Amino acid sequence: MDEILGTVNGMKFTLGDSILELSYLFAALLFVWGLKLLSHPETARRGNLWAAAGMGLAMLTTLLLHKDHAGNGIPLTNVWIILAAIGIGSVIGWIVAMRVKMTAMPQLVSFYNATGGAASALVALLEFPKAMAGDFTSLLVTVLGLIIGSVAFSGSMIAYGKLDGKVGDIFAGYMKYINISLMLITLALGAYLVFSGIPPIELTWGIYLLLILSLLYGVLFVMPIGGADMPVVISLLNALTGIAAAMGGFIYSNEAMILGGILVGAAGMILTMLMCKAMNRSLLNVIIGAFGGGGASISHEQGTIREIQLSDAAVLLSYSQKVVIIPGYGLAAAQAQHMVHELEEILEAKGVNVRYAIHPVAGRMPGHMNVLLAEADVQYEQLVEMDHINPDMPNVDVAIIIGANDVVNPAAYDDPGSPIYGMPIINAHLAKNIIIMKRGMGKGYAGIENFLFFNEKTRMLFGDAKSSLQKLVNEIKSM
Ligand code: TAP
Repeated sequence: MDEILGTVNGMKFTLGDSILELSYLFAALLFVWGLKLLSHPETARRGNLWAAAGMGLAMLTTLLLHKDHAGNGIPLTNVWIILAAIGIGSVIGWIVAMRVKMTAMPQLVSFYNATGGAASALVALLEFPKAMAGDFTSLLVTVLGLIIGSVAFSGSMIAYGKLDGKVGDIFAGYMKYINISLMLITLALGAYLVFSGIPPIELTWGIYLLLILSLLYGVLFVMPIGGADMPVVISLLNALTGIAAAMGGFIYSNEAMILGGILVGAAGMILTMLMCKAMNRSLLNVIIGAFGGGGASISHEQGTIREIQLSDAAVLLSYSQKVVIIPGYGLAAAQAQHMVHELEEILEAKGVNVRYAIHPVAGRMPGHMNVLLAEADVQYEQLVEMDHINPDMPNVDVAIIIGANDVVNPAAYDDPGSPIYGMPIINAHLAKNIIIMKRGMGKGYAGIENFLFFNEKTRMLFGDAKSSLQKLVNEIKSM
């Protein structure tokens, strides 16, 4: 392994170095392959495993073959400490992931994302003294790594707290001015540390101040964002963690870290932009608009709520030609995915055409409904994206909305005062009949009234989604 193969810029290259470089390249290929598989629910699980294998390979070869500038490998004691840390982290991660409820997945993602940001910030903090002694580029990536990693850490922790209901929205109009000022001050201090040319020893205060400002910015940046914007923010924070990890990769000249970080950063950024598009918002508007916690809405006459009996719902559905099921967060909360699949099968056996309308932000995480329904073996071809199902909604005999609320709220079209105004929705209101299954008159994530409930085509079927679906299926079977 220590056999010298050649020299580049005066540095000796051994066989071990070449194997290490090749393993990084191979790991990067596995990341890309994993990402490709992740883009489809049927292959996503495999994609995760391939990407994890890539990361495992990069970690293993680094432990065995990494050498510092003086040509020394990682000291054995450190190897044991690292292995122990990996072991403890893996066990905790495994237990938490096995126990987490499907509906708490976004919180978990936020929490793990925070740990990634913290790791990158710590790398930057520890390496700052060396970077100060090094060149301009290493100083720049270290400072950027610290800022981005710290913002990703504190921002993700706040996002975790908010999603878990532990932290409420704090919103005041003037906060956006505080946030913009804080961001500018943080960036200005970062620039000062990079460009001042002042000896490192005199700038230790600066790096700690930068850490505090960045952490504070992460908190204040996420704090006012509420309601419908949370998914976008989580995806953005995820992208930031990726970029921070890439900066860490530059600090250590580690290709696997750079490539992995860039892939996470790019994928997170693309997802962020796609979700902004799905909500009809610009990213800037999400970040400094800070809307979604409730907001003012024009007042409507509430109108009358009409309920439907199980037997009537069973008849209506059985004698329909086209039924569209619109699932939402409540379906996941009730764990009713298997029951809804049973309803779909029983209706199809009666010759009814059944499809699922999938809103890009239905549920609480990207792809939530796809994953949920795939778990119940619903055929992927039956899931129709919002843009494709909407033109056909006027021809649909029954739109059956199960635990969805915001994603079918027509206020998005006709109430400029509503926090979800402008967000594209599934046009359930255009169907010939609408059945809404939910427990009561509870609001959705955005915390606003839904006037679809008072629409004269609407009938409410109150109850927990799973037990209502069970009763409905039994009713149809007994017909
Ligand atoms: P929501 O608007 O959150 O509405 C869910 C509805 O389900 C509630 O109104 C609730 O009414 C009902 N429900 C809750 N538990 C139920 C149960 N056990 N059985 C039956 N119904 C139940 O859901 P949505 O339409 O899917 O919209 C998603 C919202 O979350 C959007 O505002 C979106 O922006 C936001 N969000 C999305 C994501 C991503 S990426 N998907 C992440 C975070 C936030 P009752 O209490 O009356 O039953």
